[in-house]
Amino acid sequence: MVALVPIATLKDVTVKRRGKTILGPISHGLESAGFTIVLGPNGAGKTTLLNALHGVERLSDGSVTWTSPDHASYKDQAFVFQRPIMLRRTVRQNLAYPLQLLGHNKNEIETEVMDWVGRVGLNGVLDHFAPRLSGGEKQKLALARALIQKPKVLFLDEPCANLDGRSTREIETVLSEVNTAGTSVIMTTHDLGQARRLASDVVFLLNGQIHETGLAPHVFEAPKTPEAKAFFQGDIVE
Ligand SMILES: Nc1ncnc2c1ncn2[C@@H]1O[C@H](COP(=O)(O)OP(=O)(O)OP(=O)(O)O)[C@@H](O)[C@H]1O
Ligand SMILES: [Mg+2]
Repeated sequence: MVALVPIATLKDVTVKRRGKTILGPISHGLESAGFTIVLGPNGAGKTTLLNALHGVERLSDGSVTWTSPDHASYKDQAFVFQRPIMLRRTVRQNLAYPLQLLGHNKNEIETEVMDWVGRVGLNGVLDHFAPRLSGGEKQKLALARALIQKPKVLFLDEPCANLDGRSTREIETVLSEVNTAGTSVIMTTHDLGQARRLASDVVFLLNGQIHETGLAPHVFEAPKTPEAKAFFQGDIVE
């Protein structure tokens, strides 16, 4: 049986920008069964929530506390942005760099790099200049670069936006594998099919608030609010 486990406590979490509240105030015990999908319309606050959880959003009020010390430190968390930023170096060097920073030796780095290029299907472009990769290849590289650090928590902000079906499937396979191997995943997507395929649990955001949350089968099959129901049906929710 899939069960929800408390992962973080949000206390009065509020993000204000230019006098406008864009997130919160949220006081909520965030629970996950391993693969959390954050859903909601444009501007609902999904990216802001992920940034706040990762500790890179300036909070106007409140705090985020991680339940497990294993998950809490910044170095145990990795973040894949919607528009990946590449080092102006080769794919190989982009992948090696985080491990060099962690002080791994050359042989370990070579083994890990070859393992991850294979897992994300970038063998053919190993020595290409990363900034010139296609959008999908960049996303795969960003994912591999995040995972090569073996994070305990992986945040992804719409990692498959603009990807074709095949690239999306390849990324989903890797995400499912690392999740099964024990990495907690917190991911936003606008692809409801993808949300249904991957989510163990769902956070539905609306107007900067957690509107509905719970195990994916419950939330998808029996949404409690008309807004969530409409959104999961693909209707426009404002
Ligand atoms: N620095 C900022 N200054 C002013 N407003 C901001 C700032 N950053 C974000 N916002 C606003 O906060 C709201 C929430 O933004 P956020 O990026 O979290 O939404 P989102 O749910 O990720 O949307 P999308 O689906 O488009 O990615 C939006 O209305 C956005 O315009
Ligand atoms: Mg966003």
